[in-house]
Amino acid sequence: MAPRNHKNWLSTPKVEYISSECYNNYGIYEQEIEHIFSKVWVPMCHMSEMSNDGDFRSTQIAHKNVVAVNRSGSVHVYLCPSIDRPAGNGLDTDGLQELHSEIKHGGMVWTTLDPNPSQSVEEWTCGAFDCIADAIDAEEMDVFHYHKAVIDTNYKLWHDTNSEFYHDFMHYFNRVSGFNDEYFARKNIPFDNGHVNVSSFTVNYEEYEGFEDRGELSFPNLPPNQWYMVDLFPGYNFNLRGNAYRSDIVTPLGPNRVLIEFRGYGLKKDTPEERSTRVKAHNSIWGPFGRNLHEDLIGVAGQGTTMREGTETRNILHGRHENSTIHDEVGMRHYYEAWGKFLGVNPMNPLTLLQDNVQAAE
Ligand SMILES: [Fe+2]
Repeated sequence: MAPRNHKNWLSTPKVEYISSECYNNYGIYEQEIEHIFSKVWVPMCHMSEMSNDGDFRSTQIAHKNVVAVNRSGSVHVYLCPSIDRPAGNGLDTDGLQELHSEIKHGGMVWTTLDPNPSQSVEEWTCGAFDCIADAIDAEEMDVFHYHKAVIDTNYKLWHDTNSEFYHDFMHYFNRVSGFNDEYFARKNIPFDNGHVNVSSFTVNYEEYEGFEDRGELSFPNLPPNQWYMVDLFPGYNFNLRGNAYRSDIVTPLGPNRVLIEFRGYGLKKDTPEERSTRVKAHNSIWGPFGRNLHEDLIGVAGQGTTMREGTETRNILHGRHENSTIHDEVGMRHYYEAWGKFLGVNPMNPLTLLQDNVQAAE
């Protein structure tokens, strides 16, 4: 096929696509805050981060301060207009408006700004966690690692790294340890509400120089060295690699800026030796000097730069069909179908319809 020139690039694709305007338009960002982040269940933190009576931990959802408080082992979440510490003990919550909350899926604290949620967390996640439920709910987990990053990119580009594979060429470690027949056979499985699972396969850690097999400390009820991912709409990822578990929680700060919180988990019953092994496994993949997370961050920072507001609009192709196997873009198509429904827009042409919506509302 001849190389494509500028005119070719701008012509309407013959396969599924979305417009880059989905990623960089301020009006769309405002609609997302109002119609998505103010409505959905958000996994705001983990119970182990607030394990004592009176402990609290705060975050922001849709530009609003939210605080979760441990009251004798149960959790209460409040809107908190002003807060002087991100976490601590002994917060006065008198007069604060309480939000709906649940502890679910491995001890995560979930809340929603929606005063009348139509679904429970179980109904909202609708089976997306089933593949790892026996592993993350069998034993109490605790957070051993936390860091956050503010990245100049759209939050959806971060979430896309779990379903698109344009950036995959950078994952050298994964190529060495994981690009086996099982990897290419693994499936993307869509669930209602825009969620997607990536089914498991066996990672051959020992193929990478200096790395060892990780089967011994695999999470409960898991065959050794498995790798599952739960991609939850609109931007929450749960990643279980054999003996270490990670969650990514996004908080959009603008169309081209996102805060991502990364947590690493082990089992609360770990001996010091077991914990040390788990931390090493976590850090060698996802820690400061690890292999995997960084390539994703570099990828989305580049995508964010090239598609930032003011750049030429382009079409992002989602046209790969490969029987729902790993490089089939079914996950991307499924996510953006849900995203378009939430906003009442067509992701192929979001601004036109957005304008129509605004005019209809006037
Ligand atoms: Fe990646």
